Amino acid sequence: MRSHYCGQLDTSLIGQEVELCGWVNRRRDHGGVIFIDLRDREGLAQIVFDPDQPEPFSIADQVRNEYVLRITGKVRARPEGALNPDLATGQVEILGRSIEILNTARTPPFQLDEEHINDDTRLRYRYVDLRRPVMQHNLRLRSRVCRILRNHLDERGFIETETPILTKATPEGARDYLVPSRTHPGSFFALPQSPQLFKQLLMMSGLDRYYQVARCFRDEDLRADRQPEFTQLDIETSFMNEEELTGIMEGMIRQLFQEVLDIRLPDPFPRMTYAEAVARFGTDRPDLRNPLEFVELRDLMKDVDFKVFAAPANLEDGRVVALKLPGGASLTRKEIDDYTTFAGRHGAQGLAYIKVNDSETGMAGLQSPILKFLGDSVTTAVLQRTGAVSGDLIFFGAGKARAVNDFLNPLRNKLAEDLQLYTSVWAPLWVVDFPMFEYNEPEKRWNPLHHPFTAPRIDSIDEMNASPGTCLSRAYDMVLNGTELGGGSMRIHRPEMQEAVFRLLGIGEEEAREKFGFLIEALHYGCPPHGGIAFGLDRLVMLMAGAKSIRDVIAFPKTQTANCMLTEAPSHAPDAQLRELGIRVVKPGEKNR
Ligand code: AMO
Ligand code: AMP
Repeated sequence: MRSHYCGQLDTSLIGQEVELCGWVNRRRDHGGVIFIDLRDREGLAQIVFDPDQPEPFSIADQVRNEYVLRITGKVRARPEGALNPDLATGQVEILGRSIEILNTARTPPFQLDEEHINDDTRLRYRYVDLRRPVMQHNLRLRSRVCRILRNHLDERGFIETETPILTKATPEGARDYLVPSRTHPGSFFALPQSPQLFKQLLMMSGLDRYYQVARCFRDEDLRADRQPEFTQLDIETSFMNEEELTGIMEGMIRQLFQEVLDIRLPDPFPRMTYAEAVARFGTDRPDLRNPLEFVELRDLMKDVDFKVFAAPANLEDGRVVALKLPGGASLTRKEIDDYTTFAGRHGAQGLAYIKVNDSETGMAGLQSPILKFLGDSVTTAVLQRTGAVSGDLIFFGAGKARAVNDFLNPLRNKLAEDLQLYTSVWAPLWVVDFPMFEYNEPEKRWNPLHHPFTAPRIDSIDEMNASPGTCLSRAYDMVLNGTELGGGSMRIHRPEMQEAVFRLLGIGEEEAREKFGFLIEALHYGCPPHGGIAFGLDRLVMLMAGAKSIRDVIAFPKTQTANCMLTEAPSHAPDAQLRELGIRVVKPGEKNR
């Protein structure tokens, strides 16, 4: 139906007859001449209709935005003064000879070039939203990223293998999506939270190197970088240690960035232990573009006459730190209040600060609501340790370590963004040496920090049991600009260790057999040492596209409450279908009859 894409026209085609198909981006009436900007996936072309061609002119007069047209005409140079340098095809236009309306369109729910389109409206009319050039760009970028990653892995002998979607629960820390079985009434499949167990089995099968672009399902609280169904680039290898695996993986990401964005990422990526990341940044996924760091003050605050600081300084799980903001003394009262509110939204009880107006004049040069509580010598020590000079501001975080980390790292990120403090554009790193277990205080038991198949650093079960809290795992996360891009580990490959870890996690023998019996059994039939990683493909493409949310790089994403605005899924199932499945729905608040 067409000879070219609209966006392909250029001066080399001047004088040629072309046939184009696309959507009306805009129609303008200019003193008797009609201009139509026709849009397709490659871009825009301007078509001119003169009244001295009455038939096409009268059709052009009827078209409206988003009508679907087929147009023929001759390419010509735009007259001087009508050149559009912002447009790839801005040197040329087409003198329309014929026009065919292939389809009309209702007035679109929003203008495609509107700045702020309501999110729900975008999702409700996603097919229109996806016509926008930025969305077209994102989807094509995603396709390209997938292709490059696939090629990279294919070339290195990785075998793409599909694993079941209707399966058993895979523990990755979220709730499962369940699917009732008709043939086994009362039984349910779980959609996989990841292909974790199957990829381990594939290693036991001798596949040696596996990958999959795998859909994963997790019923969890959603955020900008989380969706209930998302895609992992899932990878597993045998007979490789963490050095070898992370080396191959960062090589893959480096090549991807080089090829797609012409960006050279560091070689090798920096590595940081979990303990260091938490100490310096209060998080296991620090944004290293941001130069701000926590400064430990705990030892200084143990005896101060200020309970807000002294109490946590004396708690085992307490934390008192400073965050120095160079040049921050110029923040207004209102700005500081706004940051306090921001920290409050992340759980802070308050946000103490010291403004260093003049570091030469001792206490007189400082401005702060807490000076009187700290006293001169502690204040001086704080200035010294933070290295604060005239013009700086020091924020303080005090409380339980977790609470402090949870508000001060977001604040650290916000300050860097608001004040443009970034020292680089891309900052990847590996976070390593994660703790193996994390104590769950309310439930009085140990949880795995990663998943229960992650290998501990030590081989001795006795040592692990003696001190679960200090036991490190062989897990690693790849972090990029403060986003956890991927995570993985070397796995447990000896049945005794797997059983010991289950036991330590409070998963009884019965439960372990019921949930993971097949895995434990497989470990007895010749399991190679193995390990792998999974990348969040949506997050990777989001960062590469410069998008704010993974929704912008997923064709048909879900909302914050995990529904699809377009199809209105999830929806009620007909009674007959439920009966067949042996399911009765009890609405919240309704009594089960
Ligand atoms: P993990 O749970 O860390 O590890 O997931 C791997 C990566 O997947 C991405 N991700 C998500 N992306 C979008 N929406 C979500 N809800 C979501 N949850 C996770 C993140 C994350 O780093 N089986 C292990 C991997 C392994 O050990 O090999 C796993 O799934 O980018
Ligand atoms: P208060 O005694 O609660 O009025 O707090 C005195 C000062 O300490 C105020 O500036 C508060 O903003 C600040 N503050 C209170 N709690 C914390 C905290 N957990 N971390 C940092 N600063 C705090």
